[in-house]
Amino acid sequence: MAKGKQFNLNPKAVPEVHTAYRTIQTPIPNKESVEIIEKLRKYEPRSMSGQPPVVWDRAEGFNVYDAQGNKWLDFSSCVVVANAGHCNPDVKKAILDMTEHGLLNNYVFPSDIRSRLVEKIIQVAPKELKKVFLLTTGAESTECALKLARTFTRARNPEKNIVITFNDSFHGRTLGAQMAGGSASEKRWIRNLDPEIVQIPFPNSFKYEWADQSREDYSDDVCFEKLMEYIRAQGITDYSKISAVMTETFQGGWCELMPSGVLRKLRKFCDDYGIVLIYDEVQGGFGRTGKMFGFMHAGIVPDLVCCGKGISSSLPLSCVIGREDIMDVYGPGEMTSTHSGNPVSCAAALASINYIVENKVVEHCAELEKLMKKRIEALKEKYGDRIGFARGTGLAWAVIPVMPGTKELDSAFAHDVVRIAMEKGLLMFAPVGSGATLKLAPPLIITEDALNEAMDVFDESIKQAIAEQS
Ligand SMILES: Cc1ncc(COP(=O)(O)O)c(C=O)c1O
Repeated sequence: MAKGKQFNLNPKAVPEVHTAYRTIQTPIPNKESVEIIEKLRKYEPRSMSGQPPVVWDRAEGFNVYDAQGNKWLDFSSCVVVANAGHCNPDVKKAILDMTEHGLLNNYVFPSDIRSRLVEKIIQVAPKELKKVFLLTTGAESTECALKLARTFTRARNPEKNIVITFNDSFHGRTLGAQMAGGSASEKRWIRNLDPEIVQIPFPNSFKYEWADQSREDYSDDVCFEKLMEYIRAQGITDYSKISAVMTETFQGGWCELMPSGVLRKLRKFCDDYGIVLIYDEVQGGFGRTGKMFGFMHAGIVPDLVCCGKGISSSLPLSCVIGREDIMDVYGPGEMTSTHSGNPVSCAAALASINYIVENKVVEHCAELEKLMKKRIEALKEKYGDRIGFARGTGLAWAVIPVMPGTKELDSAFAHDVVRIAMEKGLLMFAPVGSGATLKLAPPLIITEDALNEAMDVFDESIKQAIAEQS
């Protein structure tokens, strides 16, 4: 099955599974699920039909359930949302309390819950970032950051408008976010691309030797100089015209942090030329990398930080956190949104952040990274010629199958692994990013025991996918 294809809806008899963490007791997909999915496929655009045919009835902790008694270990966290766990009891209570209390929306009129959430976000962010603007989706937050950066720098120098982002990056699916994104195919629908939003390669160890920190001859200086060469290759020699550089914490399909030394050099470069450094932490924020924010691994502080997804572990909420002088460029009423800081979403986010801090979820995630490292290394040993790339950070890992002994990505094989894992009670989302990336991103509250079982199933799924091919 190639990228963008649907999973088969023919019910398949599969071996029953009964463990503490998984139950598979019907054909997969089962007939009731197929009926629902067929209705969805009839009334929704095809774009909505890419995920494995599991109909979510409820989700709790690190498990997803259908209505027929099947129970999956979850490696999706929705799509890296459920950091504090699905239906976290504190988050659920906060949502119910706010709903019972009787405030479902208040536009941008003041509310107590919004004041408490923004205070909390600023408390967990580095001290240099003093203000936060609440929005609803990740794409809104990245678009907003670009707007803030350009408005801020152009007020100082009308020529300071260039935005640099990275190949393969993903910042959302709205117009500006896609212009900033690094996938040419996703931008084909846009005729008039902004010529002053340009991409350069992200340090990706699979694609570029100069970015592979495991090599003996790797050097931060060389890696950073490569980035500068690519900037100049875009015809940009006067760096004072650059308004912003925007990068993700890690690229979703690769799960590799930018080398810390390179990020520090990038920070200095931005300081030297008055460039706004924007960090898109929509996926990496709130503990996913084993730090509250991914940039903390390098000990730097960006000027603007975009967050979403795991900020609430549940309801839609996103934000831009930033330096006061940049955040305050618009006057009263000039930068708002209808659902900015919805009170129920705010309650969910506040409860989720409190849960993450009080229960040391970030530290737990950092601890589990060690287990993941060990398990991934073992997989690389075992399936050497089939796994072209396997790296990660915290609890975000990417495993990319390749055609045996080559660097050609094997998207069909990746789809097979996702399907087989689903049949065994491990839920992953369809291959992402590279088109063949198997993403391993469980809720951060998963236990060591459950994670080990999930990795056993992942291993068995790869083995079965190889057997099915031969
Ligand atoms: C790094 C990053 N930025 C932005 C977005 C867009 O977020 P949303 O889908 O909430 O608009 C995503 C979503 O996957 C993301 O991973």
